[in-house]
Amino acid sequence: MCGIVGYVGKDNAKDVIIDGLKKLEYRGYDSAGIAVVIDKKIQIKKHVGGIENLENLIGDDPLYSHTGIGHTRWATHGAPSDVNAHPHINGDSSVAVVHNGIIENYAELKEELINEHGVVFRSETDTEVIAHLVGLFMKDCDSLEDAVYMATQKMRGAYAIVAVAAKDPDKLVAVRKDAPLIAGLGKGSNFIASDIPALLKYVKEIYLIENGEMVVVTPDSIKIFDENRQEVKREVFHVTWDVDAAEKEGYEHFMLKEIFEQPKGISETLNRRLDENGRIKLDGISLTKDDLDNFSKIYIVACGTAYHAGLVGKAVIEKFAKIPVEVDVASEFRYRDPLVDEKTLFIAISQSGETLDTLAALREAKRKGARVLSVVNVVGSSVARESDDVFYTWAGPEIAVASTKAYTTQLTCMYIIALYMGLARGTITQEFYDQFIKDLQEIPGKLEEYLKKTGEIEALAKILYNKEQVFFIGRGLDSSISYEGSLKLKEISYINSFAIAAGELKHGTIALMEPGTLVLALATQDALYEKMISNIQEIKARGAHVLSVAKEGNQAIEMQSNEVIYIPYCRDEIAPLLSVVPLQLFSYYVAKERGCNIDKPKNLAKSVTVE
Ligand code: F6R
Repeated sequence: MCGIVGYVGKDNAKDVIIDGLKKLEYRGYDSAGIAVVIDKKIQIKKHVGGIENLENLIGDDPLYSHTGIGHTRWATHGAPSDVNAHPHINGDSSVAVVHNGIIENYAELKEELINEHGVVFRSETDTEVIAHLVGLFMKDCDSLEDAVYMATQKMRGAYAIVAVAAKDPDKLVAVRKDAPLIAGLGKGSNFIASDIPALLKYVKEIYLIENGEMVVVTPDSIKIFDENRQEVKREVFHVTWDVDAAEKEGYEHFMLKEIFEQPKGISETLNRRLDENGRIKLDGISLTKDDLDNFSKIYIVACGTAYHAGLVGKAVIEKFAKIPVEVDVASEFRYRDPLVDEKTLFIAISQSGETLDTLAALREAKRKGARVLSVVNVVGSSVARESDDVFYTWAGPEIAVASTKAYTTQLTCMYIIALYMGLARGTITQEFYDQFIKDLQEIPGKLEEYLKKTGEIEALAKILYNKEQVFFIGRGLDSSISYEGSLKLKEISYINSFAIAAGELKHGTIALMEPGTLVLALATQDALYEKMISNIQEIKARGAHVLSVAKEGNQAIEMQSNEVIYIPYCRDEIAPLLSVVPLQLFSYYVAKERGCNIDKPKNLAKSVTVE
């Protein structure tokens, strides 16, 4: 949430910062701004709306400078507006600050600044408090880092901030507390950013900044200090993503590109964990058979789409490894005093690895003694760093706000974890394991073939795009996929969609069925196929328009459906890897038909680093 870029070096700061902000727009896009230091004076340009509005505002002004900070915002305090856009400055414009996160005691600090220092506030943001605090401390401090340090001593909350000062012009000072921050190491130019894609074009050598640390960045050095202001030595992290991974490469939207990247993501995630004989490699993971035997319970905790991957995880882990699994949304988990102890395995799932709710739940579980295994896409992210063991998903950078390839790679990890546990505990046979691995390895190829036939779904979307509400139903694993399909549709097309276990319909929700109500019915589970057909008949009898998703070969469903989308045949447990794809595509094409901003839906941001 909110993207930050800072630059100090040889080139024009404005160009580097605008370029970096464009790569971070997925983090927030309701306003954008930039502050640069020119002749020891800070100049600010900011505008409500996307980066293009900021570029129009800057126009031909070169804003030539070697030091600057920029920000793309996802509003928390104060509506999206020019005045609430970052950077924020202090009274005499000698300090500018960008911030990602929330200053929890900002109201108290604001009152103090007004009453004791006569500060006049311009915006409704919590961030402006930081600019005034740093400005005040700057009067008595020798350096910007001293002033920022003093300011942070008064602040509570979660934040990543970067400050520049007119009187200390070739320097950026940044602090990280529970919000992501990295520093990029160049030659004669150095960088600060919220996330790697912002810097891919410029540097591949990154310092991952830890919680509580301060970074002082000049053209020739990056110095990291711990909470006690002791300098720390940090290994350089070499980024393996290439620039293309963060570009659209001819696709109209990142979401479409990422849907098409799923075969590659799944096979990469499998290949990283399987040796040439199909045996699972647990490189870097220290879970032993004894550990697995010792766990009495597993919690899978995550948010949104990652939570939906957890639902599938629960089903397969319980089925293969015979350990009870609870799945919870992270924002609820830590406030319900969960029953966690040393015999608990806590699995966190997160694409970004920076979702604050997930991170907070993980910390709560750790505090209570749980062993933490995380399933994360972003290497070196907070969730990864704070876990005992990490299972990486190898989806590559996911830029579209709506998660697609992260989800299918998370599912892939869930299968690997469940199989590994099952085999280690002796609750599945070697034969079952070998066959399942073979079946999993066939999925990328099947998906590749399936993705050649997207025209069918585009055509359906053109007919069905103007529905006001849509229901998703399914049984067993299909009900988990219904939740994901429904979330995808609502977040990018703004259609009011609702998912429910098909057998539960008759206990209330069926009251909403009317002639023409669109229902996406998932019927990919052979074991539940006939029961699902009965449920479809019940809604058909009330006039619903039924678009079904079934496996090739299961044609009987055509009698009860208005249309059927067929996915390649596969075993029931694996079907989610295939059945979610037509739902992603349906959401995509419906949103396109409705003229929605697909990669950056309203009110959303990719990485949710506030509670
Ligand atoms: C939906 C979506 C969100 C995320 C959720 C968790 O398409 O992307 O629901 O899945 O915010 O994010 P991560 O996985 O980064 O923890």
